Amino acid sequence: MLSPAVPGGGWEMQTVTLIPGDGIGPEISAAVMKIFEAAKAPIRWEERNVTAIKGPGGRWMIPPDAKESMDRSKIGLKGPLKTPIAAGHPSMNLLLRKTFDLYANVRPCVSIEGYKTPYTDVNLVTIRENTEGEYSGIEHVIVDGVVQSIKLITEEASRRIAEYAFEYARNNQRTSVTAVHKANIMRMSDGLFLRKCREVAENYKDIKFTEMYLDTVCLNMVQDPTQFDVLVMPNLYGDILSDLCAGLIGGLGVTPSGNIGANGVAIFESVHGTAPDIAGMDLANPTALLLSAVMMLRHMGLHDHGNKIQVACFDTIRDKKVLTKDLGGNSKCSSLQMRFAVASRIWNEAAVTELLWEPESPPI
Ligand code: IPM
Ligand code: MN
Repeated sequence: MLSPAVPGGGWEMQTVTLIPGDGIGPEISAAVMKIFEAAKAPIRWEERNVTAIKGPGGRWMIPPDAKESMDRSKIGLKGPLKTPIAAGHPSMNLLLRKTFDLYANVRPCVSIEGYKTPYTDVNLVTIRENTEGEYSGIEHVIVDGVVQSIKLITEEASRRIAEYAFEYARNNQRTSVTAVHKANIMRMSDGLFLRKCREVAENYKDIKFTEMYLDTVCLNMVQDPTQFDVLVMPNLYGDILSDLCAGLIGGLGVTPSGNIGANGVAIFESVHGTAPDIAGMDLANPTALLLSAVMMLRHMGLHDHGNKIQVACFDTIRDKKVLTKDLGGNSKCSSLQMRFAVASRIWNEAAVTELLWEPESPPI
């Protein structure tokens, strides 16, 4: 999707549905909005709460005003939503992915300079099938004490995620795609997934294609992550492997994520939890949501704004002067936010002045 520049300079404002989420969600969302304002990103936010509600037939659904906003804006930014464990309503995160058919989950994992982790040069992207597999939600009791859960794999969903992965590789100057599977065990389901990846690979001779068992990927990943580039896999493998990869670069607090559907529809999100223990205390790290918002800007064709905010974010972390606790510092969320905003080189003076209320404010 391309954002048209308005004749005579400037950018046309575009609407984004903002789902602040639960726990620390509202604080980190507010931080991102302030940074966007300072960076003059041409985004108009439409805030919507997503809570579980029951529709007419007793089916769980997202609130109609959130659905209506997303249908119009096509683009969402989402903070963490709490998910009950093994009871109550289903995960709203999953319901959002299903409702808008966001079939590709994209998580770039790139080492952050200045943030010490066991590896320094991780640069890979996990692409996870986001609509079916083990997450199909088809489970039933066969007899007392015996439960069956169905891993649904379709030709159609496997082909489209494989195509997405190869297109992504091509459009992002990446050189290889690895299909991650267990087709030696789940011969039919993963077998079908793998077959579709092989078929699609035939149409992308410019991209190197390899296939690897999930367990082998895990082993190789923790020994030398630099050997991987783009990885494509079914839903649950992607859930687990993307956390493992996030761990290599510093955790979920710094890892962005995008859920992409057809026709430009997408929701970008922070992957970490709601952190209820620190909610409302101004201690949360807004980096993951900010970097997800940067992915969103690029998706919308706003590359300049995205790049500037990203540079500001990485400069600030490298600089180490203002960091939240999880990043090894002891600053507040609002201080880090302010620092990010100030570092965005395309300030709006008024917004920056307004942001400078913390004693730790750096001189500008
Ligand atoms: C993720 C999360 C979700 C998932 C949860 C919150 C439902 O872990 O986005 O990776 O399992 O997909
Ligand atoms: Mn996960």
